[in-house]
Amino acid sequence: MSDTTPRLNLIQRAMQQASLKREQSAEAGDSVVAEERREPAMELREAPTAPPRDTGVEPREAPKRPSGQAAAAPARPAAQQAPQTMRLNVNRLREARMITPDNRASVTYNEFRSIKRKLLPQTRDPETKATTRNIVMVTSALAGEGKTYTALNLAICLAAERNLDVILVDGDVVRSSISDFFEGAPGEGLLDLLTGRRQQIDEVLTRCSDVPNLHVLFSGRRDDTSPELLASQRMADVCSALSRRFRESVVVIDAPPVLATAEPSALAMHVHHLIMVVAAGQVARHHVEEALTGVAACPSISLVFNKSPEWQRPTPYPYYYNYAEK
Ligand SMILES: Nc1ncnc2c1ncn2[C@@H]1O[C@H](COP(=O)(O)OP(=O)(O)OP(=O)(O)O)[C@@H](O)[C@H]1O
Ligand SMILES: [Mg+2]
Repeated sequence: MSDTTPRLNLIQRAMQQASLKREQSAEAGDSVVAEERREPAMELREAPTAPPRDTGVEPREAPKRPSGQAAAAPARPAAQQAPQTMRLNVNRLREARMITPDNRASVTYNEFRSIKRKLLPQTRDPETKATTRNIVMVTSALAGEGKTYTALNLAICLAAERNLDVILVDGDVVRSSISDFFEGAPGEGLLDLLTGRRQQIDEVLTRCSDVPNLHVLFSGRRDDTSPELLASQRMADVCSALSRRFRESVVVIDAPPVLATAEPSALAMHVHHLIMVVAAGQVARHHVEEALTGVAACPSISLVFNKSPEWQRPTPYPYYYNYAEK
């Protein structure tokens, strides 16, 4: 990582491309933001009496309150209503050299903390400060660059924030792997919502009992149409409903690679932020540039440099990341 010039050029090019796209789209009069905040389709049922930022969709069961307890308005009722729970597979996380919630002093944790600190302010509305720009897609140009590694680490790190719920979505429906890092993960998930087999997000959203702010939407039951479903209007509706599911939340989507599948490019216009993972020495510069062009519809793109040769070193500095804002 000694020569920084090519990296800066790459970031600058990404910025130029995306801002050009934005200008073109503004000139054409179409507002990406307006599309992103579209109300979900009617099939994703809304709770009729809940405030909009409390529950994006109707919970399956009403919360049980011990008799005699006053009916207060809880700050985060939805987290307590989540019907299914599972546990982190901490051994598997350690084997994969990922972060674990019990070790917040690790070098890797600090690196993701720094990514989080840059990301969080961007998720807030500049005027109201509400977390409304909260859908983050993690992708890469090619397979195996570290998308799942980044999405899961970022989700765990974000969930350490007080009063912030994190929804990790396994959007890599063909090569799903998020469930490898949890014990007791259900078979149902995103695809069940996309096919309409399930109508309510709470029926398939699972809460992590080790990290109570962390909720996971696993990929769900796959069939031949799965990849197309990820690029469908219904997926945009699910994203929108997820982002309103909790009062303050960030949705992190582990997506497939841009150059191997068409779905991330289609999804890019429905997410607020995109993190492009770039594996050092594994991907050619023109691949990264091509991938950035493919997702230029997203209004905010950042790069995470992963797998630098530094990461193969034993402790104390096994990893190196750089995070570039647009
Ligand atoms: N910074 C890192 N340090 C250590 N191991 C890493 C790092 N980044 C990724 N890996 C390892 O590299 C492999 C590929 O990472 P990962 O599964 O996250 O990639 P991916 O982009 O999600 O792949 P796919 O396209 O197949 O979904 C995994 O074994 C992962 O544990
Ligand atoms: Mg993956």
